[in-house]
Amino acid sequence: VEQFFYHKILDGQHWVVTAGPTVEAIDPVRYLANRSSGKMGYAVAEMAAKAGAKVTLVSGPVCLPAPFGVDRISVESATSMLQAVKEAVTDDAIFVSCAAVADYRPKKVASEKMKKTGDDGLVMELMQNPDILKWVASESRAFCVGFAAETQNVSEYAKAKMERKGITMICANDVSRCDIGFSCDDNELQVYYRDKNDVKQKAIGPASKQLVAEQLIQLIEKVRQ
Ligand code: CTP
Ligand code: CA
Repeated sequence: VEQFFYHKILDGQHWVVTAGPTVEAIDPVRYLANRSSGKMGYAVAEMAAKAGAKVTLVSGPVCLPAPFGVDRISVESATSMLQAVKEAVTDDAIFVSCAAVADYRPKKVASEKMKKTGDDGLVMELMQNPDILKWVASESRAFCVGFAAETQNVSEYAKAKMERKGITMICANDVSRCDIGFSCDDNELQVYYRDKNDVKQKAIGPASKQLVAEQLIQLIEKVRQ
């Protein structure tokens, strides 16, 4: 691992990483969001930059400083994240999609703060957000790595997602466990990747998100060869 950074094995490469949640406005003071601290994506961006890559980090709202040497673009909604990714991604890029993108957004955004009326509940109509990873996988030649946060049938769902999105690698995260994943400094991944007609599997961690990021970067480099 030391050698990996010492020799700057990612020199000359361009990595685009998404991280954090997206937030979808309801009105000027409220939003819908996903649970994500951004730590895993920030660790990937930090470690890729340390290994010599030029890194663009497209980030939703998180409480983390931009890692040293990383070009951070801050966004809020899934639509604006897609726009920033479209501008950043190149055909020779490695795209790592760590962001917890909100699947839906309110169909209408109120221009003024919504007021309660009476004692009734509220029904809100939602529409589907664009799939950023699917766009990169189908519209660019970038090497795509996805994440799959699941609470059940982790390996099955993750492998199905890899197929559906047409990507080479997916990192499955069991978020039903409270010792890894959300908000934690540690993580454990089951990585599935295509190898000719096979799907191979590699476990990474449990370890700090930094160490997990280093090992993931090394695996990506191996699979890309
Ligand atoms: N993703 C994305 N854009 C979206 C939704 C997801 O780029 N609109 C990316 C995530 O960053 C992640 C991968 O797709 O790398 C899988 O996200 P996930 O939410 O697990 O998958 P979905 O396809 O949204 O399926 P579901 O939420 O129904 O399980
Ligand atoms: Ca989703």
